[in-house]
Amino acid sequence: MDLMEKIVALCKRRGFVYPGSEIYGGLQGFYDYGPLGIEMKNNLKRLWWKWMTIKHENIVGIDGAIITNPTVWEASGHVKSFVDPLSECKKCHRRFKFDDLKENKCPVCAGELTEPRTYNILVPTQLGVIEGEKIQAYLRGEACQTIYLDYKNVLDSTRLKIPFGICQIGKAFRNEVTPGNFLFRQREFEQWDLQWFCHPSELEKWFEFWKKERMDWYKGLFSHPENLDFFEHSKLAHYAKKAFDIQYTPSPFDGRELEGIHWRGDWDLSRHSEYSGQDLSYTDPETQEKYTPNIIETSGGVDRTFLFLLLDAYVEEKERVVLKLNPKVAPYKVAVFPLLANKPDLVNKARKIYEDLKPNFMTAWDDRGNIGKRYYSQDEIGTPWCVTVDYQTLKDNTVTVRDRDTTKQERLPVDKLCSYFQNYLK
Ligand code: GAP
Repeated sequence: MDLMEKIVALCKRRGFVYPGSEIYGGLQGFYDYGPLGIEMKNNLKRLWWKWMTIKHENIVGIDGAIITNPTVWEASGHVKSFVDPLSECKKCHRRFKFDDLKENKCPVCAGELTEPRTYNILVPTQLGVIEGEKIQAYLRGEACQTIYLDYKNVLDSTRLKIPFGICQIGKAFRNEVTPGNFLFRQREFEQWDLQWFCHPSELEKWFEFWKKERMDWYKGLFSHPENLDFFEHSKLAHYAKKAFDIQYTPSPFDGRELEGIHWRGDWDLSRHSEYSGQDLSYTDPETQEKYTPNIIETSGGVDRTFLFLLLDAYVEEKERVVLKLNPKVAPYKVAVFPLLANKPDLVNKARKIYEDLKPNFMTAWDDRGNIGKRYYSQDEIGTPWCVTVDYQTLKDNTVTVRDRDTTKQERLPVDKLCSYFQNYLK
C-alpha cells in the first residue's frame, strides 16, 4: 500500500472520513467526515478563524448563502470563464482534461481524440416548483462571491474603514472533470477565505503582508514546515493579476496546492457594480477621495489542509502507526485509562479524572485490552497524551502521562493535569 492508500484506509477505519453515499455505491468527488474527522476539521476551522478574524481589529466574518442571484456568476466571470477544455475519445467517448493529456491519444484505449471543447464547471440547480417557470441558479463555485455582495452592508453596519477584511469559511461546488486523489479534488468542498479591501496604491504592500501571514499560519501547524513553499502562477485565473500558491511537497499525487493568494485588484467590485447598477465605491472619510477598493484574497481549502496534515503527520515506527499531529489539531487531546479494567478502585478513580478533564478537552476513555494496545490505538488517531491510573494513583494522587511522539512517561499530580495540557494548547 502506498501512503495515500494507507491514509484513506485509516480515515475510514478510525472514523475520520467516509466515502459519500457509500451504501449506494458512492458518488465520485463527495465525502463525509466521521466522528474524529469533524473534530479535527472543527479544530482547524477554529484555529483559522482565530488567526484571521478574532486576532484582528479590522477583520470581521460573514456566513453567506450557497445559492445567490444567478447574475452574480455572470458578473464574476464564471459563466464565461470558469471552464475546462476537454477532449473526447472518438472510440470509448471518455472525456479528458486537455491540460492533463501527455499525448494526443486516449489514455485508456489509445483511440483518436477530438479537438478540445470547453465545459463550464459551475454546478447548476433549479429553483421553483412549476415546470416552465423554474429559474436556473448555481451552487456557488467559489465561496468568496458572497463577501463582495455583502461588502457594502458590512461597511454600513460596522465602523470599519479601509483597509479592512471580511472572512468566511464555507462550501463551494465544482463540476470537476477529474475529481480524485481523495479530498484533494472534490465536487463539494470547503474554503476559508479572507478578502482584504485596500487602496490601490497599497496592493503590493498588503499582498506581501498576507503572503507571509498565511505561510506563517500553515508553518505553525505542520510537523514538517520545511515542506511548505510558494509557487508563482504564470497562467492566471480570469480575475487575478498575480497569484501564488502555498504548496506542500512531497505530495504522493499530482497536486500540491493548499491555498491561493490572489491579487484581484478592482475586478470584483467593478464587475458587481456594473451588473447590479449599484455604486460600490468607497469614499475616504478623511480625504474624501472616492475609489473602488482593490482586493487581495487568501483562499484556502479546508479539506486539502486536512489531507496534507494527515500525510504530513503519518509515521510508521516499529509496530506502531502514529499520527504526529499538532496537539491543537488532533481530534482527541487526551485519553484516560484504568491500568486494569476489572479493578473497581482503579476504574472509579480513572472515571473521575476522565469526567473532570472532559469539559476542558476532547477526552477519550478506553478500558479495553491491555495498556499497550490502548496506546497504539490512540497513537493511530494522533492523541497527544495518554493518562493511566494505577495503584500508585490511589496512594498519592499521581498518574502517568505518556507522550505520543516520544512514548516517554512521566508522573504528574492529578490536579496539575489540566494546566499541563493547556500549556501546549494555548
Ligand atoms: N476564490 C478563489 C478560489 O476559489 P481556487 O484556487 O480555485 O481560488 C482556492 O480555490 C482553494 O480552494 C484551493 O487552493 C484549494 O485548496 C481549494 N479547492 C479548489 N478546488 C477544490 C476542489 N475541487 N476540491 C477541494 N479543494 C479545492
